[in-house]
Amino acid sequence: MRFSPVSMFDRWAPGYDHSALQSAYSRAHRAILGSVTHLSAPPRRILDVGCGTGRLLAAASHTFSEAELLGVDPSAGMLSVAEARRPARCRLVQASAEHLPFPDDTFDLVTATYSFRHWSDPHVGLHQIARVLVPRGLFGLVDVFPEQRRRGWPYHLGADRLLPSVLAQTLRSAHLRPTGVTTISGCGAVTDMTVVIAVNDNAQPHQPTGLDRRRG
Ligand SMILES: C[S@@+](CC[C@H](N)C(=O)[O-])C[C@H]1O[C@@H](n2cnc3c(N)ncnc32)[C@H](O)[C@@H]1O
Repeated sequence: MRFSPVSMFDRWAPGYDHSALQSAYSRAHRAILGSVTHLSAPPRRILDVGCGTGRLLAAASHTFSEAELLGVDPSAGMLSVAEARRPARCRLVQASAEHLPFPDDTFDLVTATYSFRHWSDPHVGLHQIARVLVPRGLFGLVDVFPEQRRRGWPYHLGADRLLPSVLAQTLRSAHLRPTGVTTISGCGAVTDMTVVIAVNDNAQPHQPTGLDRRRG
């Protein structure tokens, strides 16, 4: 896959960690990690999609001290800042949500904080995430969906009632079932961030891969 030489995020990368938005981003990272700390089996492999400067991965390395961590981002600039704080058990790969270069059934937890809105094809990205998640693995998404208010999008009943209908439908088509949707309000420059935790309902494990076999 080819990446554009310099993206908006490459230009933003050097100052990104000092942005006024960081308090909201940190809150998003805490919300996702806090939602999964109660799990009886902590995640062994975690993928952060659109990892930016790697702050969620750094926090995850403390929360899940045994987990293998992977971050992907299409921006070389963001990844070079992430490299400076990369925890020992973490790998960074230049890739996008639409082309995840990993075998099927690899990760127990996939996260995406404030990257979803930038994906060129959310449908493909969510299906890719379902593919690389193990059956019953978890997907944690945080983003802002202002369309809900501005356009009065239809709301859904059930766990996904706070989601824009297009996102709810796409999650459903990828067999990612929302088990919790919450809205956090008043995060400084960012208002009303939505936190979605979804479980991978694809029941049929994919054919075992070399990576799976090495898990033992
Ligand atoms: C606002 S930053 C969020 C970074 C990080 N997740 C955080 O919470 O600080 C958005 C990130 O999404 C990345 N991004 C843009 N297009 C993407 C895509 N198609 N797939 C994955 N990430 C993408 C950008 O390069 C950027 O690093």
